[in-house]
Amino acid sequence: MIAWKDSYDIGVEKIDCQHRQLLAKLNEFFEACSNQQGRDKIMETLKFLKEYTLEHFGDEEELMGEIDFPELTEHRKTHADFVKTVLELEEMINAKGVSVLSTIKLNRTLTDWLVNHINKCDKLIGEYMASRGKAV
Ligand SMILES: [Fe+2]
Repeated sequence: MIAWKDSYDIGVEKIDCQHRQLLAKLNEFFEACSNQQGRDKIMETLKFLKEYTLEHFGDEEELMGEIDFPELTEHRKTHADFVKTVLELEEMINAKGVSVLSTIKLNRTLTDWLVNHINKCDKLIGEYMASRGKAV
C-alpha cells in the first residue's frame, strides 16, 4: 500500500486528482494480488487500472497538446511504455496467475515508475504552465 504524498502534486488540479486515483487503483490491484483474492478479482482490478491509466494518459497528453508542451513526444513515449508493461502484466497473469514474489516485484516496478514519472516528467508540465502563466 503506497500512500500519496503532497510532494507528488504537480500543481495542476485535474492531473493531481487523477494521479491520486491512479495510485488508488494500483493499491487495489496490489491488495487483490497480495491477499490472493483469486484470479477474477485480480483481473478485475487490473482491468480498472488499465482503463484508468489509458484515460489519464489521454487527458494528460491532450493538456500537453493544448499548452504546446515542448517534450510532448518523449512524454507520450514513456506513457506508451507503461501501457505496454500493464498489457504484458495482464498477459502474464492470464497465463500464470499471481505469486506473492511476482506481486512484490510488480508492486515495486509499477509504483516506482509512477512516482518517478510524476516527480520527473509530470512536474515539468506544472512548471511549464506556471512559467507561461497558463491557467491551471
Ligand atoms: Fe505523464
